Amino acid sequence: MEKKNIDWSNIGFGYIQTDYRYVSNFKDGKWDEGTLSTDPNVVLNECAGVLQYAQTVFEGLKAYTTVDGKTVTFRPDLNAERLAQSAARLEMPVFPKERFIEAVKQVVKANEAFVPPYGTGATLYLRPYIFGTNPVIGVKPATEYQFRILCTPVGPYFKGGAKPLTIKVSDFDRAAPNGTGHIKAGLNYAMSLHAIVTAHNEGFDENLYLDPKTRTKVEETGGANFLFVTKDNKVVTPKSNSILPSITRRSLVQVAREYLGLEAEEREITLEEVKDFAECGLCGTAAVISPVGKIVDHGREIAFPSGMEKMGPVTTKLRETLTGIQMGTIKAPEGWIVNID
Ligand code: PLP
Ligand code: COI
Repeated sequence: MEKKNIDWSNIGFGYIQTDYRYVSNFKDGKWDEGTLSTDPNVVLNECAGVLQYAQTVFEGLKAYTTVDGKTVTFRPDLNAERLAQSAARLEMPVFPKERFIEAVKQVVKANEAFVPPYGTGATLYLRPYIFGTNPVIGVKPATEYQFRILCTPVGPYFKGGAKPLTIKVSDFDRAAPNGTGHIKAGLNYAMSLHAIVTAHNEGFDENLYLDPKTRTKVEETGGANFLFVTKDNKVVTPKSNSILPSITRRSLVQVAREYLGLEAEEREITLEEVKDFAECGLCGTAAVISPVGKIVDHGREIAFPSGMEKMGPVTTKLRETLTGIQMGTIKAPEGWIVNID
């Protein structure tokens, strides 16, 4: 398979149009059989549900080239399950799991020339999404939907790759108590845009959102979960029903326990105790694990002992093990790696 002529090692996290996307439409209570399309444009009625009331949910996963030249994806079953939960919460039809995995395989296979080669640091990012397409003017769910998967080759989410980030404790909330923070709905990200622009304008890389009810506990950033390491090498991740259940975080907890022999715990974490941790990272499909060097709470700097120059030792091991599993240099747990054949 001849790869596209792209400078793989120097791409950022942006949109590069690829040759094919998967499209299936929902009408009269059922999904059609779905197809690959070469058309990157979506033409919608001016009153489509997605345009009026933001009825859209999405996912993010990646395809990788392994060390022995195979193309694989990572735990797409969990993305299918989470998309189903997101869709149900916004009164949208669920796209069946088996069909989701099949669609992922089709779109990766069709775009294999865009799957970055092993060792370049780049991957093919897949973005499955569902949105309401028919006209809706009273506030109610659409009755017609489109499911699509687009893909685009990407490099690191944060410029500078593995350089430690500086995070701002945001004055804005990302989610409401009993709201939609636990699902991957476009509306959560629209909500975060002013906060992220504000943080960037002030020189920060990302926001730390606090729990919306008490504003004392660590939730997540706009696009990743937190992972902390204690001074005695225990991995701790925030537990909350208003954060997205990150597939990367859940995988890393298992990696910590089963591959690195570390204790790992999911529990509520107060902002106050963050100063006691040795390492901090952001984990997600896009972020992988990106190290955090410093969290700034209204001028009070919480600097982690791992510093601003490099990733902490446990974070490094977690990252190397996870990416090793994804790239085929380390044996994966049963069912984590799905081959594109
Ligand atoms: N939290 C938010 C808000 C996200 O957008 C993402 C990205 O998907 C994550 C966490 C990480 O989730 P995952 O590891 O499943 O990509
Ligand atoms: C992902 O990691 O897949 C996400 O959706 C995060 C997003 C901010 C790019």
